[in-house]
Amino acid sequence: MHFGIGIKSGGLCRIILLTSFTLFMSTLLSAGLSHADEKKEADDTENKEIKELMKKLDKHYKAAQERMGYYVLSDSDWATLLKTGEVISRLTDRVLKEFVPPDDKEFLKFSQEMKKRADEIYKSANEKYLGAYEDIQYSFGRLRNSCKNCHNHLEIQIYTDLYPGQSSPE
Ligand code: HEC
Repeated sequence: MHFGIGIKSGGLCRIILLTSFTLFMSTLLSAGLSHADEKKEADDTENKEIKELMKKLDKHYKAAQERMGYYVLSDSDWATLLKTGEVISRLTDRVLKEFVPPDDKEFLKFSQEMKKRADEIYKSANEKYLGAYEDIQYSFGRLRNSCKNCHNHLEIQIYTDLYPGQSSPE
């Protein structure tokens, strides 16, 4: 008899312990989950923002690309190159300020490279010295490399529709 009660109260004790443990765990779990949700939402917003930024950057990149390989530039061609340097430099400032993942040294390096080349393009297009256009073509090639290197590093394929299964050609 005495023995029996012992088992019963032990069982009850176990049930209470188990219940509070389960409650405790589910509280922890749901707190953890909603935290994960918030984080995912923040990541999504950030991803959307950098995509928007990249689209603008790409527009100016392409405008300059159309002017590579000409040997006589009109005033409006020079103006386009100047604008490309200026806008890409400014947008890269935003990348550097807002989007560099804290632990990604490569991302930082490619952003700094992009900034440097955009500034070079701006300077040459602004000063239009003898050989400025050749310098711009050189800097543009380096700029293109920074795009490619960062996308490859992140394993992003930009032109998947054009080149299915291949990494972006820019
Ligand atoms: C330091 C890293 C980095 C550099 C440098 C970089 N990009 Fe990007 N690019 C990204 C990231 C991050 C995304 C968004 C990836 C995703 O889809 O999740 C992106 C996406 C893009 C997209 C697709 C946007 C969309 O609508 O999804 C284009 C186009 C693009 N980049 C063009 C360029 C061009 C042109 C350059 C060079 C002038 C460049 N990028 C340089 C990181 C970079």
